[in-house]
Amino acid sequence: MGKNSEPSKGHVRSNREIWNVWADPSSNDLGAYVESGHKAWREDQPLWGIFQTPESEVGLLRDFKGGDVVELGCGTAYVSAWLARRGGNPVGIDNSPVQLSTAASFQKEFELDFPLIFGNAESLPFKDESFNFAISEYGASIWCDPYRWIPEAARVLRPGGQLVAFGNSVLLTLCSSWEDGSSAAESLRNSQFGMHRFEDTSDKSVEFHISHGEQLRLFRSCGFEVEDLIEVEPSLGAEETKYSFVDLEWASKWPSEEAWIVRKK
Ligand SMILES: C[S@@+](CC[C@H](N)C(=O)[O-])C[C@H]1O[C@@H](n2cnc3c(N)ncnc32)[C@H](O)[C@@H]1O
Repeated sequence: MGKNSEPSKGHVRSNREIWNVWADPSSNDLGAYVESGHKAWREDQPLWGIFQTPESEVGLLRDFKGGDVVELGCGTAYVSAWLARRGGNPVGIDNSPVQLSTAASFQKEFELDFPLIFGNAESLPFKDESFNFAISEYGASIWCDPYRWIPEAARVLRPGGQLVAFGNSVLLTLCSSWEDGSSAAESLRNSQFGMHRFEDTSDKSVEFHISHGEQLRLFRSCGFEVEDLIEVEPSLGAEETKYSFVDLEWASKWPSEEAWIVRKK
């Protein structure tokens, strides 16, 4: 573990509080997360991340063959819905009851049922070796402490099981401002050595981002073999998004999103 890899405390509660606000359709943004979740539930082809890059260009599910699936930080659970339609048996776990209630309403509307569990992805309520596939799209992958959630993902996966973790890139994190939320700069704003816990000073939300070297060693120490690190380029037709922290011009020059694909030995 690196010198700044002491497990973080208090972030699970503060992230639950902020996600309960962001996910509440009446509280801000006129239900932005409900609306984008609903759109994603309607899609047949997965569209990943902030720039909605199609699965055909990213390939996160290229090895997916069904089986028992866990989505870590499922939010509105559209990823679980996509996997259920591809022959998986998903379970979604999330730290925000408000997000889970949106997910449950979509299950009813789209007549697709699977377990949704209120819980913390850093301490999973599942037996060892329960799943064939684990995935997180901007869930545990950025909101949980990697030194806690990755060992848990390894524990609940069966030997040979795959983990896909998708979120902001390391480069974007280094070029971002955590004080004023302005768009990513074309210069480095944060130190890479010791990077781990990033708190937004205005809303108190806490994200985690570690360097590629740290991430690689962490996966290996948990018994994973690294199969790929995909740096995502927005599609030709991609559009600006509601997120102010990166614009399309930046993301078309450097990877703003990345995905690790790893397999338990
Ligand atoms: C961007 S959203 C979910 C991503 C999902 N793909 C979506 O957009 O609906 C991030 C989710 O991570 C969840 N989360 C944050 N911390 C968590 C934790 N410790 N355990 C489980 N879920 C967590 C939040 O509650 C939120 O629903």
